[in-house]
Amino acid sequence: MASALAVGIHDLSFATTEFVLPHTALAAHNGTDIGKYHLGIGQRSMSVPAADEDIVTLGAAAAAPLIARHGSDAVRTVVFATESSIDQAKAAGVYVHSLLGLPSATRVVELKQACYGATAALQFAIGLVHRDPAQRVLVIASDVSKYDLDSPGEATQGAAAVALLVGADPALVRIEEPSGVFTADVMDFWRPNYREAALVDGQESITAYLQAVEGTWKDYVEQGGRKLDEFAAFCYHQPFTKMAYKAHRHLLNSNGHDTDEARVARDLALTTAYNTVVGNSYTASVYLGLASLLDHADDLSGRAVAFLSYGSGSVAEFFAGTVVPGYRAHLRTQEHREAIDRRETLDYARYRALHRRSFPTDGGDHPTPAQTTGRYRLAALRGHKRIYETR
Ligand code: HMG
Repeated sequence: MASALAVGIHDLSFATTEFVLPHTALAAHNGTDIGKYHLGIGQRSMSVPAADEDIVTLGAAAAAPLIARHGSDAVRTVVFATESSIDQAKAAGVYVHSLLGLPSATRVVELKQACYGATAALQFAIGLVHRDPAQRVLVIASDVSKYDLDSPGEATQGAAAVALLVGADPALVRIEEPSGVFTADVMDFWRPNYREAALVDGQESITAYLQAVEGTWKDYVEQGGRKLDEFAAFCYHQPFTKMAYKAHRHLLNSNGHDTDEARVARDLALTTAYNTVVGNSYTASVYLGLASLLDHADDLSGRAVAFLSYGSGSVAEFFAGTVVPGYRAHLRTQEHREAIDRRETLDYARYRALHRRSFPTDGGDHPTPAQTTGRYRLAALRGHKRIYETR
């Protein structure tokens, strides 16, 4: 039976990288008509990490404002979701725990299932809060999306981290039951342990995503979920923003609904403002969509918002949230805009050099050039250990 306790997203903050590559620079390099990027896939630029940025520094930058506002007393669990993991054993969240000075009485763990991992983290966090409503869970979704240079996936890279503080009586969004869930064993996108860049079958990945949309919705309906017309907006996982449009048209069509462009735009357009300039942020992407919606929409108090989280391989979940009256007083719209606007524009040659960069694996002392101006930086790889610095 559904519990009467309201649990959900109490605060949300995101961070992105020091650098940005406009798609015009990529198009000029590879001779692609810019219309393919701007209109065909709906992307204008992509965030590129500096040499001394990674999922830890991004995650810490996203989470620090939540701890500054709410303190860490109630946070007994940190769940770090990523698919661009930096270590096969140690959770990246342990470094973030240290950088943020969180109490030792905390459990920290890392979760992985492609871009779906953050939604698993959110749902597990909700379960923990139901067990003890005095506790809050810090969920961090942080990823660097990297494909091979000169591959079709290259235009859909990006990087960002979103931090969610999950608790009882949330200030932003109450997450509802039920969820619709879906798993299918497909090889649409994967990254073997020995590779830095993901492998992808682009068209297969789009088909697999659309199948997952149908599968999650079918289960959501069977579990007694809301009707399609009840939602004020739909936050989809956005590997590129046009994917959200494809997915939404597919959902509407397969349910016999009209897919006139005005309706599709009304349901989606405000969720894409950040993703179109950040690129694919994998686990963070669907929650960057939520940030964009909350930061740009007129008052959504009391309205239902749909979430479709998809992770290649594949696992997906469709669920709903209700926006909490008074939420606008808790938004971080200004900080989010600054995180995007502060990025330094790269030319293609600098982007390519950064893309090619990787640490030697000899266990030596390898300091990183100081490129990022953010609070947290990856200072070196020394004796196979990552060394972080706080400014
Ligand atoms: P591609 O082969 O370079 O592009 O791959 P395309 O030929 O399919 O063209 C893309 C669109 O641009 C098409 O529109 C063209 O018509 C249009 P559509 O037919 O799809 O509506 N187009 C133009 N439009 C205007 N003016 C023009 C023009 N030229 C063409 N001049 C692809 C594109 C996305 C497949 C590739 O970039 C890729 O492989 N990306 C990575 C995979 C990906 O993002 N898949 C998405 C679903 S899987 C997912 O979301 C999970 C993921 O996030 C990973 C995870 O879960 O961990 C990836």
